[in-house]
Amino acid sequence: MSSEPWVRKYFPNNSKGIVGNKKVVQRLLEFVQDYKKQKKKAVLLVGGTGVGKTASVYAVAAELNYELLEINSSQVMNADSVKNVIGNAANTMSLTGRGKIILIDDVDAFSGRKDRGGISEIIDVIKKSGNPIILTALNQWNQKLRTLKNHAEVLQFRKLMKSQIKVLLKLIADSEELCLEQGVIELVAEKSRGDMRAAITDLEVLATGGKVLQQDVETLGYREKTLGVFEVLDKMFHSQDYHEIVKAVRNSDVNLDELLLWVAENLPRRVKDRDSLIKAYETLAEADLFRARIRKRQHWRFLVYVQDLLVLAVMLAEKNRGWFKTERPSKIAKLWKTKSERNVRASISAAFAENCHTSARQAEKVYLPFLKTLSLVNWKKASELCASLKLGEKEVEWLKNSI
Ligand SMILES: Nc1ncnc2c1ncn2[C@@H]1O[C@H](COP(=O)(O)OP(=O)(O)O)[C@@H](O)[C@H]1O
Ligand SMILES: [Mg+2]
Repeated sequence: MSSEPWVRKYFPNNSKGIVGNKKVVQRLLEFVQDYKKQKKKAVLLVGGTGVGKTASVYAVAAELNYELLEINSSQVMNADSVKNVIGNAANTMSLTGRGKIILIDDVDAFSGRKDRGGISEIIDVIKKSGNPIILTALNQWNQKLRTLKNHAEVLQFRKLMKSQIKVLLKLIADSEELCLEQGVIELVAEKSRGDMRAAITDLEVLATGGKVLQQDVETLGYREKTLGVFEVLDKMFHSQDYHEIVKAVRNSDVNLDELLLWVAENLPRRVKDRDSLIKAYETLAEADLFRARIRKRQHWRFLVYVQDLLVLAVMLAEKNRGWFKTERPSKIAKLWKTKSERNVRASISAAFAENCHTSARQAEKVYLPFLKTLSLVNWKKASELCASLKLGEKEVEWLKNSI
């Protein structure tokens, strides 16, 4: 890509540049400045994604001219000894004589048997550390973090308000000289649901198509944050509101092929009336046929019909009341569980990492969601990008399926 993503380009370079959560950011700054006086030798920043936890740490480091050592949580957790990874860093001065901050990002995101050990070793390091240690996590109530909280001051980041998100979006829009229909910023901010990263990325994606109209924003779908398959099925089988169901299907992580299987498996559990069931399966079969044709002719835009037929199949069926256990598509389940999904994500991230001079982890966090959203709103641009990254067929197919 010719230029860096906007979440990088507009990365705040001092604490004043962080929108919202002023008190918390101010406290973070003090904590680092007066580290020697602190009772607790670490802080734990908690809050949802894209509210600026990581960005605040970078901003504070830049403002105070501190060196920042970011340690990847999985790196810590997989290490035989946490001390090897952060212990030394925590106790040595930076070579340049500048102060040093140690950031352990997303401590609650990793999993595995070693986790508990990992946390207790981190606590050991905190106790002896000569430099400020900052940790971040999504959810402070995670059991894993319980003991950590005795040793780290918890700073809670609140979700950003729509008005706060709008301020930054306007700034970016001006600086990029975007051509926006009135109301676009409002809509993008609304859809982000307090997630600044999402808002900035959405605006960037929309802007690739030239003038941005309000109706373009609709294509992004609300970020009710990705629903799992059980939640989507629940909506499909219980709601009577077509738009609500479609929204749920679009916002889910489940691709249509998979959802089709889930619906096929669960229909007879929910629909007892024989005629109704036959009709539902007929509609489902039609959706499947459509899907096969689209694949053959590569008319991906028409996937939306498959989605509609799928939704209709369920909506029109006469369903039983009450709660039913949702079953996994039995025979085929194994197929879907393959590791292919993870492999594909990894190889796309690796391609970005190579081309954009960043780490694969960072690429997965920043560039991959960007590419996914771009595929959604502008497949032509997305496929050009795929070509320049030299992505393989499997990767491109996966992207198409996630539309
Ligand atoms: N409060 C904020 N003020 C300014 N920019 C922000 C803010 N929150 C997020 N951003 C932007 O969004 C991107 C992602 O934020 P990040 O700090 O990584 O979120 P978190 O760590 O809370 O998930 C940052 O690169 C930054 O550009
Ligand atoms: Mg973060």
